[in-house]
Amino acid sequence: MTPDFSAGISADLAEGPNGRVLAESMSPDLLGAIQDHITIERHASITYLAMSIWSAERELAGFYQFFDAEAKSEQNHAVHFTQYLIARSQINDLKALDAPKQSWNNLTSLIQTAFQMETDTTSSIQSIYALAERNSDSRTTVFLDPLIESQIKSEDQFAYIYGRVKFANSDPSALLVIDNELRAGQTQRS
Ligand SMILES: [Fe+2]
Repeated sequence: MTPDFSAGISADLAEGPNGRVLAESMSPDLLGAIQDHITIERHASITYLAMSIWSAERELAGFYQFFDAEAKSEQNHAVHFTQYLIARSQINDLKALDAPKQSWNNLTSLIQTAFQMETDTTSSIQSIYALAERNSDSRTTVFLDPLIESQIKSEDQFAYIYGRVKFANSDPSALLVIDNELRAGQTQRS
C-alpha cells in the first residue's frame, strides 16, 4: 500500500491581507496605529531634512551633519515599521506628507521643535504598545521594546543639546563650540 504523505497536512495556509502566509492576524485598530506611526516617522525625517537645510544655510556645519544623519535615521525607522507589517502579512498604506516646519527664529527654538517631535514619536509608540497589549499581540510588544529604549536615548540626547544651546544664550562663539562638537560626533554626554 502506498503511504499517504498528505495525511496531516492542511490543504491551504491562511493568507494575510498582503497575500503572504499568515502566522497571526492583527486587529484593525492596531494596524491603523502602526500605519499612522509610519507617517509620523516619515514626517520626522523630512522635518530633520528641513533642519539640516536651515543649519547649512547658516554655516552651522556640525548641526547640518547631525540633522542630516537624523533625517536618514528616521527614514530607516519608517522602513523598519514597513518591514514589520510585511512580516505580519499586513498591508502598508503610505500617506501623503504635510510640508514640514522650515523656519525658526533661532537655534534654541529649532531644538525645541526637535525635542518635542521625539517625545511625540515616543507617545505614538506607547499608544501602539497599549493597543498591542489590549489585543494580546505579544509579537508587536516584543518588536516595540527596543524602539522605546531607543526613543528614551533620543529624548536624552536632544535634552542634552537643548541644554547646551540654551546655556549658550545666543552667543555666536558659544554656539560655534557646540557646532564643532556635533561635527566631531559628540552628540551626548558620553
Ligand atoms: Fe524615529
